[in-house]
Amino acid sequence: MEYLMDLRLWAKKLDAIGKLKKIKGASWDLEIGTLWDIIGSQPDPCSALFSEIPGYPKNFAVLVNPQNSQRISALACGMSEEDSLLPPLEYVRNLKSRMKKIHDQPRIPPVTVKEAPFFENVDEAGNIDLYKFPAPRWNQGDGNEDQNRYIGTGCVCITADPDSGTVNLGIYRIVIHDEKTLGLYMSPNKDGMANMKKYHAAGKPMPIAVTFGQDLITYWAAEHKHPHAESEYEYAGGIRQKPIEVVIGAHTGLPIPASAEIVIEGFVHPNDLRDEGPFGEWVGYYSTGTKPESVIHVKSVMFRNDPIIFGHPHLKAEAVGMPWRWAAAVWNRLDACGVPDVKGVWAYGQLWTVVSICQRYPGHARQAGIVASQTKPGSIGARFTIVVDDDIDPSDSQAVLWAMGTRMNPIEDIEIIRRSWSSSIDPMIPPNTPAAACFTSKAVFDACKPYEWRQQFPSATGPSLELRASVYEKWKSLL
Ligand SMILES: Cc1cc2nc3c(=O)[nH]c(=O)nc-3n(C[C@H](O)[C@H](O)[C@H](O)COP(=O)(O)O)c2cc1C
Repeated sequence: MEYLMDLRLWAKKLDAIGKLKKIKGASWDLEIGTLWDIIGSQPDPCSALFSEIPGYPKNFAVLVNPQNSQRISALACGMSEEDSLLPPLEYVRNLKSRMKKIHDQPRIPPVTVKEAPFFENVDEAGNIDLYKFPAPRWNQGDGNEDQNRYIGTGCVCITADPDSGTVNLGIYRIVIHDEKTLGLYMSPNKDGMANMKKYHAAGKPMPIAVTFGQDLITYWAAEHKHPHAESEYEYAGGIRQKPIEVVIGAHTGLPIPASAEIVIEGFVHPNDLRDEGPFGEWVGYYSTGTKPESVIHVKSVMFRNDPIIFGHPHLKAEAVGMPWRWAAAVWNRLDACGVPDVKGVWAYGQLWTVVSICQRYPGHARQAGIVASQTKPGSIGARFTIVVDDDIDPSDSQAVLWAMGTRMNPIEDIEIIRRSWSSSIDPMIPPNTPAAACFTSKAVFDACKPYEWRQQFPSATGPSLELRASVYEKWKSLL
């Protein structure tokens, strides 16, 4: 698992299993982004390591992981080689148990160390030049001629609650404004934003540290939705089963992961905004537009020799891909809410959720659908939740469409929930809508056989899931 604690070991691991494309000579200006769009949109894509970027030292690099590869996603969160190759729904079941175990176990606080590889290079004051790094312009529509180089797409932003001292890690995109200034986009419901509001209400600047390349465990913890009072570092320690090593930042006093490739420390001042965006969002649109957003005044830049930027730009192909974590998270929430007999959950990206149940009582299907549609992971992007019987594999989109087409009477079986959760990233929010009015409706499709006459419902043709699975197991080497 130690390869998860160092981006370089991770790249070696990917290379060893034939899942790393090494591309030399691509330009930061749209070439890296476009190559990534091509590579990352393939079925079961590889990761990519871009180096020898024109205009930069040969070994300054950019590494991108795909979200659509089950194998890479599994290995990146510490699952075994064997588990990474499970059939899709089995893999989600396995991931769900793993996420629950990590969540339930005792937290392991980080440990402070004095040394870190990023002290190899320290730039302060007049030496700071953020253009030193090959930050890509990922998409043609990103930003404008003054700001379009997003150094932070897979970055970890470290802030603290000024009252409780609780440290928060979040992934918020970061653009270069000039040699010493960065633009930061945090949406209103984020913990980093809550911390900033507290500092600014007291008339103080918010200290912030950002890593632009770090170990995968800290990144995974930062990506997760945790309650405000929970520490992502402790959660990451729980995943690792060992504390995460951190260095205390000289300017901010914030704990910085020792695994970082590139780190900045800086301050976000009240009422100091600059135009930022648009950026190619995960929904597949430039939906946030250009808006005045916060600015980071950089006080120091530290980086390893031959630093690697970790990139995580969004691909349209992933909007309905990358299902695993979302599905596992919704499934755990359904269990926690006491919805019984859930047999499988699948997510078509963050846009569609499908729940399969063994119907136990009248109203069970609506309960499962409505609860799933309102869980945090099932609600943050998904407008549509579909509930199917347990003879339907929710990861099989054809089977789901077949169930919808044959087991639904639209006038009875579509529930609409009005004024539900959305955000300004939602492309269906009309122009100029204030943040306080960003609602959407959500639909739950009950594609289960009608409960009261399900026993008389015509029998479906084809083998049962169990028969299919056992025959598959026996014959899989020939299939
Ligand atoms: C690749 C990626 C990019 C993201 N970009 C942003 C962003 O620019 N702004 C934002 O507010 N959230 C963004 N998010 C979502 C947050 O990082 C995520 O919701 C995280 O859990 C927030 O943590 P927090 O609730 O502790 O703030 C991004 C997530 C990922 C995986």
